[in-house]
Amino acid sequence: MGQPLDDQDYPLSRQVEERNGFVFISKPGLYGWQKVDQGSQYLVESLPKMLDLTLPISGKLLDLGCGYGYLSMLTAGSQTELTCTDNNAAAIKCCETNLSRIGLKARVIASNAGDLIEDSFDIVLCNPPFHSGFSTQTDLTERFVAAAARLLQPTGQACFVVNKHIGLEQKAQKFFGKISLHSENSHFKLIHLSQPKH
Ligand SMILES: C[S@@+](CC[C@H](N)C(=O)[O-])C[C@H]1O[C@@H](n2cnc3c(N)ncnc32)[C@H](O)[C@@H]1O
Repeated sequence: MGQPLDDQDYPLSRQVEERNGFVFISKPGLYGWQKVDQGSQYLVESLPKMLDLTLPISGKLLDLGCGYGYLSMLTAGSQTELTCTDNNAAAIKCCETNLSRIGLKARVIASNAGDLIEDSFDIVLCNPPFHSGFSTQTDLTERFVAAAARLLQPTGQACFVVNKHIGLEQKAQKFFGKISLHSENSHFKLIHLSQPKH
């Protein structure tokens, strides 16, 4: 018999420190569990310009597909009424822990693309999933866009980051009156959505 495969202590949450010193709790099985997603980082860096505001965000914020909570950790503060949601139980646990470690209050809710949330928000932030299991589900992206529209106040705004090849603008036409490409880099683009069609 050979050596057992390294399961990276799969069940255990642990502290991860990124190269730039950013520290968070995560575990194997979460999306990109031991790194900061480059698209999410691009979204956070661009957000003040995209929304014409200074961080942290004030008002009602939804982190849709929150993972371990990166977007919330970097954009929310004491004036944020924060809700986070994901369909991964470990992500929910880690997100709760990460937010409470930095003193942020939030509702962290398990849901399938926001389906259990009945509320309306000023701002939705989202780096949507592209893969479901082993298949690439383009309609999963669309479900996240639809959820953002449903969960926004009429004057609310959603900020999405996606890989450049994803046609999010086309998918969003059914759900939003105003769709604009805010910016792009070599891999990602940032899409600003407003005027949700309720
Ligand atoms: C690209 S990751 C972004 C994670 C996190 N927001 C970040 O910036 O690091 C997408 C997230 O969507 C979650 N997700 C995938 N399918 C989902 C679904 N059907 N409902 C809710 N969340 C889902 C994944 O668990 C994952 O945490």
